[in-house]
Amino acid sequence: MHTPSPPVVCYADAARCIVADIVSHRLVAENTYRLRIDCPEIAASALPGQFVMLRIPERVDPLLARPLAVYDTFTAADTEPSNGDTPTEARRRYADFIYTVQGKFTTALKELAPGAQLLVWGPLGNGFSVPTVDHLLLVAGGIGQTALLALGRECLGNKLYGSSLRSVPRAKRVTFCWGARHGGLFGDVTDFRDAGMDVRLATLDGSVGHRGTVVDLLDELAQTEDLLHPQSIHIACCGPEGMMAAVARWSAARKISCDVSLEAPMACGIGICFTCVAKIRDAFGEWDYRRTCIEGPVFNAMAIDW
Ligand SMILES: Cc1cc2nc3c(=O)[nH]c(=O)nc-3n(C[C@H](O)[C@H](O)[C@H](O)COP(=O)(O)OP(=O)(O)OC[C@H]3O[C@@H](n4cnc5c(N)ncnc54)[C@H](O)[C@@H]3O)c2cc1C
Ligand code: FES
Repeated sequence: MHTPSPPVVCYADAARCIVADIVSHRLVAENTYRLRIDCPEIAASALPGQFVMLRIPERVDPLLARPLAVYDTFTAADTEPSNGDTPTEARRRYADFIYTVQGKFTTALKELAPGAQLLVWGPLGNGFSVPTVDHLLLVAGGIGQTALLALGRECLGNKLYGSSLRSVPRAKRVTFCWGARHGGLFGDVTDFRDAGMDVRLATLDGSVGHRGTVVDLLDELAQTEDLLHPQSIHIACCGPEGMMAAVARWSAARKISCDVSLEAPMACGIGICFTCVAKIRDAFGEWDYRRTCIEGPVFNAMAIDW
């Protein structure tokens, strides 16, 4: 029997398309850059796990914009030295992104200096929502940490994104597990430590942290944690697909709820082209293609047909 699809909430409806100045741009790890842009229209409303589509204006190659997760947002007072005055402008103005150089867009992007402009539309996507739990586990592979910092900050109560009227459940603890091929790929780990998260690192070559994968880190954690109450734990995960599938299996075996943010290639970012579809199962076990850009990028890990 055919089950009607739930109505699609289009997060793109609230997105803005703007030209934004680059404020700072620096190397933070091997082949990895941190970009800050001046975009109050987007920074003020972006929520944890949302993303933007970026293009370099007047460049036709690459023609299509590329998605990057909003890593963090700041007010002017957060970023400029205080002159002793009480800040009057509390709206978030700047948004930070961290990216690895992959192909045409990121190769061109890394050459842009402060003052250059970018075409940006966002914030896009559903972002993370978190049930009320004691322990939030953030699990990142590769560049997947970019989707997770803001979520961890909110759950620890040290930053609120979007409207000041939002109410966000607090976790007692946030553990951040991050895996990479080698230690040179970790950048700005201090952001997570300074926010009060318990940071655990794993590298395949053993150069930093545990030698192995993030799943080994989760196994380690399971030896010291009380997993008899899986409902008090929630996992938010982002990284390469194989790694997310492994984390999804790990959490399912322990009945721990898990959301993943999919990094599907995207062409339009607003639901038109169907480039970004993923196979998602409904409550009856039937699957259908869902557009990652407007129905994700965050999905319940159990619903994904890996
Ligand atoms: C919601 C979302 C958030 C993202 N956030 C970030 C982020 O914060 N930082 C970051 O560095 N990247 C992020 N990405 C991935 C980023 O958009 C791609 O790496 C992008 O294609 C890079 O553009 P490019 O032109 O430099 O490389 P491209 O020319 O597009 O691709 C270069 C190589 O990477 C491969 N590739 C491209 N996209 C993907 C993908 N999604 N999965 C696997 N392989 C791919 C291509 O096949 C090609 O081999 C995100 C993706 C999504 C969907
Ligand atoms: S990227 Fe075009 S529909 Fe999702």
